[in-house]
Amino acid sequence: MKHEPTYVEIFLTRLAFFFCGGSVYRAFADRLPLGGHERVLDFGCGMGTVAYFVAKRLHRGHLTCLDVSERWLNACRKTLRSFWNVSFLRGEATHLTKESFDIVYCHFVLHDIPERELERIIPALSVSLKRGGLLVFREPLKETGKLGAIKRLMEGNGMSPSFSRVTDVPIMGNALESVYIKL
Ligand SMILES: C[S@@+](CC[C@H](N)C(=O)[O-])C[C@H]1O[C@@H](n2cnc3c(N)ncnc32)[C@H](O)[C@@H]1O
Repeated sequence: MKHEPTYVEIFLTRLAFFFCGGSVYRAFADRLPLGGHERVLDFGCGMGTVAYFVAKRLHRGHLTCLDVSERWLNACRKTLRSFWNVSFLRGEATHLTKESFDIVYCHFVLHDIPERELERIIPALSVSLKRGGLLVFREPLKETGKLGAIKRLMEGNGMSPSFSRVTDVPIMGNALESVYIKL
């Protein structure tokens, strides 16, 4: 199946998480505007690199980790086994319920998805957000074509740009970090 990683890929990601977790993933998780009580979606959670740090911040909230890959989701279950406030969902954004999240984030996910799939996914993510909720993403800056398509789809689906910045991510290079508000 095209979405399933090899075990070597999972092992290498665990190594990167172990050695660079703080500077890459925690830095992003710590910038999410969380009070601790929100309902949050990690879209394309992978092995839970960002989710691990977000779950720690949600003292009274809840995190849903969604991935299309069963192997990545199993790896994520392992990473987050000590948390009680997390649930796991395998599948597509189109499976999500209307207005169920305060914050949706995507970390290095959207740039890898073909534009015709983004045309289904971004509207579904927007629908899953409560009014006034936030969609935050971080994607490689060099993917200019894809970033343009993402911006167009966000703005065409009831999302208004609120904030953007470029961050230099260790190992991964420059990335665009953007926050959109659901109108
Ligand atoms: C590069 S990894 C990033 C994982 C994690 N967010 C991180 O930063 O470590 C991309 C992830 O997105 C998932 N993914 C790709 N297409 C997807 C889709 N259509 N729906 C849900 N997840 C998807 C992949 O299975 C993979 O786990």
